Amino acid sequence: DTVPVVLCGGSGTRLWPRSRKQKPKPFLPLVGENTLFAQTVLRCGRDAGFSPPVVVTGAAHLAHVEEQLPDRASTRIIVEPEGRNTAAAIALAALSLPEDAVMLVCPSDHHIGDCEAFQAAAREAVALAVEGWLVSFGIVPTAPETGFGYLKQGEPIAGTVGRRVQRFVEKPDLARAMEFLASGEYAWNGGIFAFRAGTFIDELGKYRPAILAAVRDAVGRGKWDGMRFHPDAAAFSRVESESVDYAVMENTDKAAMVPAVMAWSDIGNWQALHEALDRDEHGNAVRGPAELRDCSNVLVMSDGPRVSVVGASNLVVVVDGDEVLVCTPEGAQSVGKLSGAANQ
Ligand code: GDD
Ligand code: MG
Repeated sequence: DTVPVVLCGGSGTRLWPRSRKQKPKPFLPLVGENTLFAQTVLRCGRDAGFSPPVVVTGAAHLAHVEEQLPDRASTRIIVEPEGRNTAAAIALAALSLPEDAVMLVCPSDHHIGDCEAFQAAAREAVALAVEGWLVSFGIVPTAPETGFGYLKQGEPIAGTVGRRVQRFVEKPDLARAMEFLASGEYAWNGGIFAFRAGTFIDELGKYRPAILAAVRDAVGRGKWDGMRFHPDAAAFSRVESESVDYAVMENTDKAAMVPAVMAWSDIGNWQALHEALDRDEHGNAVRGPAELRDCSNVLVMSDGPRVSVVGASNLVVVVDGDEVLVCTPEGAQSVGKLSGAANQ
């Protein structure tokens, strides 16, 4: 049994003003018709051999999750009283599943262009997970990004496309990221994992026993309400907030990776979104009402007003409600620092 575990929490600022605290990135239709969250659930459908998913999300986002779930009736939702980062979120799901179930942990904040390649990589990852590995999806790195985890590729695992992960380094500084990229020996961690529920619980217990104990307590005192599970709020508030990358993946000696070439993008800012969208022959991409003349490499997104742009190149224009953002591709990195984004 492979159970997709879809994580949605947190809130970003770099896709402001479209992404807001009340409706963050996973719940927006940024590429294609569906939202990133709905696409994540649809990628792991029953037609591809997966069991019904478990969604782990914060109380603040429950309404979006229920509205956007393709199949609400068969989806269990674990509702966190407050965010305690991904080690705890994954532990909540692991403790609600049989030990032998394979969890396919899927973040809902990125885009995957090639769904079949994802499913093929997932099958490889699941086969390794059954053998007791904690498997990451390795992405070919293209820049010295400091917001990702890096996997040093170790020896091949016989009879599979997988490799051991010799070293897992979460969010290195720029100097190390440049070194890793130049070495050619590292992959990015795509943030998607496969492991048996029991393997994860054992490894979390080994390296972060306090997190496991506190989550266990919150689950033990929790309550079901139909398909929703509510861990006990007081117990969950005592869980230390740490990501699975630092808590488990950097420490375990059972880390493996499968290569995943699947047009992956974390859509970290407007420039990254522009690259993930279909563009015309001049590199322009338009979502919403707009007229472009003599433009190249321009991205326009508008949820209402018509946007007209003449003679511009390398520009991003986003209109959302009462906010308008204009930036260059380079400026896209710093959108989160604008006071509008910071005080949304
Ligand atoms: N339910 C729940 N609760 N989900 C959470 C929480 C939480 O407290 N915190 C984060 N998430 C969700 C996010 O919505 C996202 O879908 C996923 O878990 C990963 O969390 P991020 O906060 O976006 O992590 P990151 O982007 O900094 O780093 C991770 O992803 C990178 C790839 O995008 C790491 O795994 C990196 O190693 C990896 O390279
Ligand atoms: Mg992320």
